[in-house]
Amino acid sequence: MELHLASRSALQAAPSLAGQRPPPSPSLCIRNHTFKVPPLSYKGRSLIGCQASLATNYMETSELADLDWENLGFGFIQTDFMYTAKCGEDGIFSKGEVVPFGPIAMSPSAGVLNYGQGLFEGLKAYRKKDGSILLFRPEENAIRMRNGAERMCMPAPTIEHFLDAVKQVVLANKRWVPPTGKGSLYIRPLLMGSGAVLGLAPAPEYTFMIFVSPVGNYFKEGLAPINLIIEDNFHRAAPGGTGGVKTIGNYASVLKAQKIAKEKGYSDVLYLDAVHNKYLEEVSSCNIFIVKGNVISTPAIKGTILPGITRKSIVQVAQRNGFKVEERLVSVDELLEADEVFCTGTAVVVSPVGSITYLENRVEYGNQGIGVVSQQLYTSLTSLQMGDVEDCMGWTVQLDQ
Ligand code: COI
Repeated sequence: MELHLASRSALQAAPSLAGQRPPPSPSLCIRNHTFKVPPLSYKGRSLIGCQASLATNYMETSELADLDWENLGFGFIQTDFMYTAKCGEDGIFSKGEVVPFGPIAMSPSAGVLNYGQGLFEGLKAYRKKDGSILLFRPEENAIRMRNGAERMCMPAPTIEHFLDAVKQVVLANKRWVPPTGKGSLYIRPLLMGSGAVLGLAPAPEYTFMIFVSPVGNYFKEGLAPINLIIEDNFHRAAPGGTGGVKTIGNYASVLKAQKIAKEKGYSDVLYLDAVHNKYLEEVSSCNIFIVKGNVISTPAIKGTILPGITRKSIVQVAQRNGFKVEERLVSVDELLEADEVFCTGTAVVVSPVGSITYLENRVEYGNQGIGVVSQQLYTSLTSLQMGDVEDCMGWTVQLDQ
């Protein structure tokens, strides 16, 4: 299937919206359905400008993008469309629009480029066996973005705006949602200070964008257990810092230790708390859980740990499966004595841990196989996410097509 754009060159030649009156209410034409997009209310200058006014004029002509769906990893694959909205100093976002995927223009003096004033989110869309598309708990991402924005002195889209934008961009890129069982469409909302600053201050303009990419497993191990090394030198977050929100700098700060770990053959790094250097915090890209008997424990959210949506979901799924779940301080000693260890995250979903290395000592779990509890929770969660079982939790959002 191809989504036909109204000629890319025509789009590129389209005048910038900057300084112009909002265009008349455009419509998104997806198969036989037409979605009215209310007129823009944005007053400020558009840094992205360009193709917006014509970009909504596309139609669908086949079912799936031409991709090797059997071999998806977790790498960026460009799709047809992205979503963009802006706000100026009044903090009120324009309704925004779906535009062809492409580079964005930004002042070298933009707040995000100079001072890291930026947040991201991650969520997934799954294709059900009947062909329909499901989002998993998207309002949780909207809320988390709003919480993070408050910490980073940024205005944020409302929950309704966020959800509407996610739905629009997923439907526009529908042919990139992998077939059932082959992966998912990873949705990456961004919120950034796009306005120019020089002295340290919140930016005068913000951009809310969403792009998507079809993905498979996050770790190259797939669903096989990963091997972690505990980091006792670098820290991911400190009390009072930004560890508890999804700001872009948190992820840049873990790259160094992750690089060293990967060079030594480990899958990823497990961070400890910066004060005692003995309590677990999280892995670079996901939360951590330990299993001992019928009790599942995970570090409590206390400002330095990302409140993962998969983490929260697994806590609830585990409780429903009869496990006792504890959210508290979890020490390295306990980790090393656990029956099973697993990680959770939007990208990784549930990833079993096969070994942990701490101060040159390696502890192995589950004979390098996936643990019984990890497997049970993985199956419970993913069957819900993919619509294989009835959604008794009310977590999935089905997109109208
Ligand atoms: C996610 O799981 O969505 C994340 O944000 C982790 C990212 C490093 C891929």
